[in-house]
Amino acid sequence: MNPIQLESFIKGIPKAELHLHIEGTFEPELMFEIARRNQISIPYQSVEELKKAYNFNNLQEFLDIYYAGASVLLHEQDFYDLTWAYLIKVQEQNLIHTEIFFDPQTHTDRGVSFDTVIQGIHTALEDGHKKLGISSRIIMCFLRHLDESAAFETLEQALPYKKWIIGVGLDSSEMGHPPSKFERVFSKAIANGFISVAHAGEEGPAEYVWEAINLLKVSRIDHGNRSIDDKQLIKHIAEKQIPLTVCPLSNLELKVVDDLKDHPLLQLMDSGLMVTLNSDDPAYFGGYMNENYIEIASALNLSKKQITELAKNSFISSFLLDDEKEQMIQKVETFYQNN
Ligand code: ADE
Ligand code: ZN
Repeated sequence: MNPIQLESFIKGIPKAELHLHIEGTFEPELMFEIARRNQISIPYQSVEELKKAYNFNNLQEFLDIYYAGASVLLHEQDFYDLTWAYLIKVQEQNLIHTEIFFDPQTHTDRGVSFDTVIQGIHTALEDGHKKLGISSRIIMCFLRHLDESAAFETLEQALPYKKWIIGVGLDSSEMGHPPSKFERVFSKAIANGFISVAHAGEEGPAEYVWEAINLLKVSRIDHGNRSIDDKQLIKHIAEKQIPLTVCPLSNLELKVVDDLKDHPLLQLMDSGLMVTLNSDDPAYFGGYMNENYIEIASALNLSKKQITELAKNSFISSFLLDDEKEQMIQKVETFYQNN
């Protein structure tokens, strides 16, 4: 496949995104606009200067800038605008379903209410469904660098909005904050009907992936790259078909891999794992879903069949209802047969 054929195939194929932090879609232009209307100053003179700061050596360097960016979000309209801007991208990129993370503590710790955040995001997603035909789910993440009691508090705040939030996740600084720290919170969340997922094995060891599976009872692993270090773990994940939400451009930008040619995606697929492709924090990592597909497909020379498998996996691994999944997988198959 030449690069033009590859791009057009990827742009056309229907896809779902399963690993996307809404705060990570905050484009600098919108950040400056919201900062101005909220009369908050940003320590950068221009969009260009801000973009120059997007040069990360590891996860923590990124998180420091990501939390600073999110701090200009104050009002329900801000969360609506952030989410709506992402949905426009979703539509342009032929994503027909998206499951988005949000980090309530990033906002509640600044005095913004849980209600303000969730109302803004939820209303935009409802409009996205009505006006753009995009289906979606919301997953609430606990910040793992904060303590267990803060996570319990956040879970309490979420309970009145349970009908809008399908699951709980775990994100932020991984090293030194193992899944075991949140075993009791996840257990309570599951008892309340939430599905669970967790970031594990992005920078942290394979042991954290085991903990996410055994202690947090996750339905998906976010990233999971380091699983490759443990043959028993790979065997287990393959047997149970626990999906991995892999994020190639994020891995490159956060130096989880030095080069996309060294990315473990193919090893994971060849080991029989249920792997999906995702953009993580597209405004910070230089690309949304199609760019992730295009970059990794060209680095690893993926075939149309492999790209189609990844697109189908995104629906299989989603939290859609079975009949919704089947309909969307059929759309992928039809596209593959005709292209
Ligand atoms: N929060 C936003 N993006 C993240 C990532 N890639 N890892 C951990 N926490 C995050
Ligand atoms: Zn992530």
